[in-house]
Amino acid sequence: MPTTLTINGATAAHDVSPATLLVDLLRDGLGLTGTHIGCDTSQCGACNVLVDGRATKACTVLAIQLDGASVTTIEGLASGETLHPMQAAFKEHHGLQCGFCTPGMVMAGLEMVRRHGHDLDEATVSHELEGNLCRCTGYRNIVTAIAAGAKAMAATGETTHA
Ligand code: FES
Ligand code: FES
Repeated sequence: MPTTLTINGATAAHDVSPATLLVDLLRDGLGLTGTHIGCDTSQCGACNVLVDGRATKACTVLAIQLDGASVTTIEGLASGETLHPMQAAFKEHHGLQCGFCTPGMVMAGLEMVRRHGHDLDEATVSHELEGNLCRCTGYRNIVTAIAAGAKAMAATGETTHA
């Protein structure tokens, strides 16, 4: 079925099966493999992308449901060689080890900024990370990174989506 999506700022029509999940269109159809699949059952958050600015688990939505929507993946956040402030905060605060969960964590951080603003306390970030699993870090540095990234976004005027 023809489905028009704006992905990382580029609008295009895609011919997708009615059963195609957004995550499969992104990864298999478009080669945007930064969106990961950790569980396929809406539990881990590794597949988080922004749909019209809101964090969405791409394993839970069909591509055809999003006709006309704007999708931002982890590939769409950096500006050339310059990381988005939320990405830079993960790097600076060692918010990742293997990196598998990181794209989804970054998107979760952007969702927190959208919903709670730039001044995020530890309890809020920890609570909001309920839907994102990490098997490596113990979460502490992720919490620190998200709070720092949120502050940095205020300083640079960065938005939550490309
Ligand atoms: S792959 Fe979507 S929530 Fe785990
Ligand atoms: S850094 Fe390895 S799963 Fe989170």
